[in-house]
Amino acid sequence: MTTKSNTKYALITGATSGFGYEFCKLFAADGYNLVMVARSEERLQEVSGEIITQYGVEVLPLAADLFLSETAEGIYETVKSHGVIVNVLVNDAGQGEHGLFVETDLQRDLDIIQLNITSLVSLTKFFLKDMVARNEGRILQVASLLAVYPTPLMAVYAASKAFVLAFTESLIRELKDTNVSMTALLPGASDTDFFHKAGSEDSYVYQKTNLSDPEQVAKDGYEALMKGERKIVSGLKNKMQAAMANVLPDSALAGLMEKQMKPSEEIKKEGAEHQASREERDMIQAASNSFEGRDLKNEERTDFDESLR
Ligand SMILES: NC(=O)c1ccc[n+]([C@@H]2O[C@H](COP(=O)([O-])OP(=O)(O)OC[C@H]3O[C@@H](n4cnc5c(N)ncnc54)[C@H](OP(=O)(O)O)[C@@H]3O)[C@@H](O)[C@H]2O)c1
Repeated sequence: MTTKSNTKYALITGATSGFGYEFCKLFAADGYNLVMVARSEERLQEVSGEIITQYGVEVLPLAADLFLSETAEGIYETVKSHGVIVNVLVNDAGQGEHGLFVETDLQRDLDIIQLNITSLVSLTKFFLKDMVARNEGRILQVASLLAVYPTPLMAVYAASKAFVLAFTESLIRELKDTNVSMTALLPGASDTDFFHKAGSEDSYVYQKTNLSDPEQVAKDGYEALMKGERKIVSGLKNKMQAAMANVLPDSALAGLMEKQMKPSEEIKKEGAEHQASREERDMIQAASNSFEGRDLKNEERTDFDESLR
């Protein structure tokens, strides 16, 4: 085993698609070695190979499912066993589910809470303790503009991001006498695979509004993190929407968001233009197709489909 305590490492969850993929490129371009976390081993191999070739940094790819409660500790122990010190943690992996709360599947709701809240808190606990002990480190928590908007048809998701924001704001205060910084990133609707995983690709916000570019969102988050800023809302339109949330009553905000989440009359977009996010979707689709024609029982088919979201 080699000890790499003299080189800087960033651990990024959700590293294979969307913002996470863009964060990997930004850190690698600045000379950081990476610990890349996502569920798909195949996709991790593809993306880590690409990063190593392009930037010549070291990459530890970890295929791990943060829907499971034991995964965060497993990641921490694995990273330690490789002698890696994590200087920057990016808690990016997250998912949502579209639909009326009374109709969405309870297990899916609880999985989202596990991924977006419990695993994020656990990873923060493990790595933050070491950062505070070293008096050095940075953490980026990926929340959402929906953290400040009550959001019908995505109630559990929006509430999970409100947790991330409140949690981050509290910890920033607790860390005030240390050299450890924490930053919350609030992106608006962006051109990634998120909407497909959430089953919300028909929504008005996805079909009819200008989606943010994941590369730009990650760049905004990266710069704010490196400056030690508390919070960054990416994009002017989103900054204005965040400001509106401070003045309008919650009932009005919920009404605005309901319109955004309802199905669009016109369906134009079929997938993300962001290449890495499109590649992730193509891989999921190919895995799903390879099961076509197999004699799966309905229950097995549901389990398989859910494992891919
Ligand atoms: N896109 C938006 O409009 C938007 C707006 C605001 C906030 N956000 C937030 O931004 C973050 C990144 O989302 P994105 O838009 O970049 O989505 P994305 O393109 O779907 O990427 C999600 C990444 O997370 C990984 N992931 C998903 N479930 C996981 C699990 N259970 N365990 C481990 N890794 C998992 C995925 O890889 P595998 O599938 O292989 O695991 C992938 O690498 C999320 O926290 C999301 O809530 C997104």
